Amino acid sequence: MTSNPRIVFAKRPAPHELPKIGEHLIFDESRTIDLENVPLNGGFLTKTLILSPEPAMRERMRDPSIPSYTTTFNVGGPILGFGVVVVLRSEKDGFKPGDYLYGLTVWEAYTVQPYIDGRVNFKAEEWSPGTFDMDSLALQVVPNPNGLYPLSKYTSIMGTPGLTAFVGMEGIIDGKEGETLFVSSGASAVGSMVIQLAKLKGMKVIASAGSDAKVEYMRSLGADLPFNYKKVSYAEFLKKHGPINKFWDNVGAEALDAALESITSYGKMAICGTSGTDATPPNEHYRLKNAYLIMKKCINIRGFIVPDLIPQFIGKFFETVPALMAQGKLRSEETEYDGIESAPQAFIDTLSSGHQKAGTLVVVVARD
Ligand SMILES: NC(=O)c1ccc[n+]([C@@H]2O[C@H](COP(=O)([O-])OP(=O)(O)OC[C@H]3O[C@@H](n4cnc5c(N)ncnc54)[C@H](OP(=O)(O)O)[C@@H]3O)[C@@H](O)[C@H]2O)c1
Repeated sequence: MTSNPRIVFAKRPAPHELPKIGEHLIFDESRTIDLENVPLNGGFLTKTLILSPEPAMRERMRDPSIPSYTTTFNVGGPILGFGVVVVLRSEKDGFKPGDYLYGLTVWEAYTVQPYIDGRVNFKAEEWSPGTFDMDSLALQVVPNPNGLYPLSKYTSIMGTPGLTAFVGMEGIIDGKEGETLFVSSGASAVGSMVIQLAKLKGMKVIASAGSDAKVEYMRSLGADLPFNYKKVSYAEFLKKHGPINKFWDNVGAEALDAALESITSYGKMAICGTSGTDATPPNEHYRLKNAYLIMKKCINIRGFIVPDLIPQFIGKFFETVPALMAQGKLRSEETEYDGIESAPQAFIDTLSSGHQKAGTLVVVVARD
């Protein structure tokens, strides 16, 4: 028998509360698994290599009575999030031992993956228009990098953050040479890709983040005007360096309000995240002062979640992004946490603002 530790979701935090280790998130070492004989029931057995804590997982901790775009975690059940796994045994066509997979997986060392009978089809032309289906993010076979790039790239450039940035830039921002784009939370996994994709289009990039280390990281990625929003306000900075033509928003609140004021008529806004209010009780949320400008400036503002745009742009993503990464034109930094026991802390750090760790936070559960 082999030890099979996991991270259990023990209790729902209040909507604005950071989860706490030992109260909401528990490292459970009590279970074992027989890797040779555990029944697969038509599925496949995987070993977890990398876990990718992401802000959207906070949404999944909420009480199911609160409406949102994701399903919720079950109290007492394991955490589910993105990760890279390797197949050890399989009874399912299309999945063989040694395959590397990326997608949603249970946060435990070994998993008998359920037989996924849903649509796991990345062929956009076979999808009906407007398809919204989280199954598209289920485990997919991905190339084994064989040392060409670290597996952790599947949690940044080559994973959902990269995909989110790419599809939103293609489908909403549609950047043009000479335009100015402002991206809030520019040092986040998504934001750092947005900076680089905008620079590849010849745009001027203003980018905000909550620590000086992150400001330097954004500069190293090509941001022309990176700033620390804790030292200078969004409104003040954009007044000085605007106007902007396009806005990529990971934050909302003051960042969105300042962008509404700074953006030119017919400007475009991609609303991707709400980090600025995620840690605040709903009745204390910042209220926009400049929403009246949406009509006056004919601002094209669109909220989206990544599956909205996957059907249109997934093909182009795989044609473009791995090559740009291989050419060194797209890059990312990852900060590694060692061992599955560090996953709760990595998740909490992901949700926290202002730390000095640049780039995507990843948990390395096993090296191979
Ligand atoms: N729409 C979609 O389909 C989709 C898909 C993926 C991600 N997202 C969203 O995109 C955003 C970035 O995701 P990610 O995975 O790239 O994030 P990430 O790398 O985990 O970074 C999250 C960052 O949010 C910032 N933050 C936290 N509280 C903040 C506050 N009060 N004000 C401003 N910034 C704050 C922190 O940076 P600072 O230190 O700079 O404050 C933190 O490092 C998130 O809002 C996420 O929910 C949306």
